[in-house]
Amino acid sequence: MNRLRKKDIHDMLNKKDSIQLRRTLGAFDLVMLGVGAIIGTGIFILPGTVAALHSGPAIIYSFIIAAIVCSLAAMCYSEFASSIPITGSAYTYSYSVFGEVVAWIVAWALVLEYGLAAASVATGWSAYFVSLLEGFHIAIPHAVTGPFNPTEGTYINLPAIVIVLLLAFLLSFGLQGSNRLNKIMVFIKISVILLFIIVGVFYVKPTNWEPFLPFGWDGVFTGAALVFFAYLGFDAVSSAAEEVKNPQKAMPIGIIGSLLICTTLYVAVSLVLTGMVSYTELNVSDPVSFAMEMVNQNWVAGFISLGAIAGMMTVILVLLYGGTRLLFALGRDQLLPKSMSRLNSNNSPVMSTWVFSILIALCAGLLPLAKLAEMTNMGTLLAFTIVSIGVIFLRKDKQLPSGGFKVPLFPFIPILSFISCIFLITQLSVDTLIASGIWFLVGLMIYLFYGRGHSLMNK
Ligand code: ALA
Repeated sequence: MNRLRKKDIHDMLNKKDSIQLRRTLGAFDLVMLGVGAIIGTGIFILPGTVAALHSGPAIIYSFIIAAIVCSLAAMCYSEFASSIPITGSAYTYSYSVFGEVVAWIVAWALVLEYGLAAASVATGWSAYFVSLLEGFHIAIPHAVTGPFNPTEGTYINLPAIVIVLLLAFLLSFGLQGSNRLNKIMVFIKISVILLFIIVGVFYVKPTNWEPFLPFGWDGVFTGAALVFFAYLGFDAVSSAAEEVKNPQKAMPIGIIGSLLICTTLYVAVSLVLTGMVSYTELNVSDPVSFAMEMVNQNWVAGFISLGAIAGMMTVILVLLYGGTRLLFALGRDQLLPKSMSRLNSNNSPVMSTWVFSILIALCAGLLPLAKLAEMTNMGTLLAFTIVSIGVIFLRKDKQLPSGGFKVPLFPFIPILSFISCIFLITQLSVDTLIASGIWFLVGLMIYLFYGRGHSLMNK
């Protein structure tokens, strides 16, 4: 049996008989989906600890470096998404370029990325939510606000479980309803971030930016590998390819546009934040509202907490969405049970939605995720490296429909993208690399014992 068997791109593009999703999204919807997926804990929680412990005010360089790595990969994603507008993202692209085994490994990496990121953001959401309720003098019993950890007195993180299941319920009604909620939430979070920037500018003291590079460039690079998390999610936009009206034009606008908006906001927020408060004081879990409290703007701080809650909710929504579409694609190709690709009357893959969401809810509710979150970056970077190199092979196919997005400076950019992703992987901790190795070994077992024998390619 040929383990490197590939899917024919032209077959995939011309397929009329298999299960299809409905095309309802435009370029603007995609940008909203991207911003919805990207801006979350990365701006409301991360900048404090990263500035205080690794980068200092030069955290803006960390954000810019991470953004450059992401935009290189984003261009490669855009070329794929506009040439092969089929759901499944990097998994589908790898299937056509590198064959089934690599495709499965990429899918397994993406399950790790979407799943673990969704679960960690859900716990961040839960923390902000509990403290917001406390502000209104509503107390949730401590025992149900954290992972299973009897020594700390917590047994289950109920708010995290509830938010994941609620969003799954929404997703099961199809994309249009979720899309509307996503737009409202994105509007709230961008307004809150702009409010922070506009009010904060008046409290900036340039002396807080001195020294600008307290931990040197080493600190900036470590910071870049950590704030990379803040950009996760833009690749989830490419999962929507099959539900987009004019994918050749709309996909690149959606992917690159949302990345540009987020980078601008991240750099502006971190500049204002480190200008308002000395980086040495920023090692707190809610740095953005903390800075506003420090300058006695408590009402702004309150709005920011609200924005953080809305912001993280859309991140969970889009990551869940990406994960469910991935399981859908795997089910359709029968690398997972076929039932994963079953659609309900709302044209939503109902089985994959619930299986994925219940697993994520259990992780978010029971596991101590702080240590595992770095594995998310590993899963993502691995998918990025494969997509970057894949573009070089994709270009060799001269029969693909022309007119879509093409990576400029080919093949320089795909190669640079590949190298910079590998560089960031080397910045991750050894524990993370070992844990990820175990994850991929388990994935390979599942392929050998299930996927290989059941795959649609056998028929
Ligand atoms: N980029 C997402 C966030 O920052 C994962 O929450």
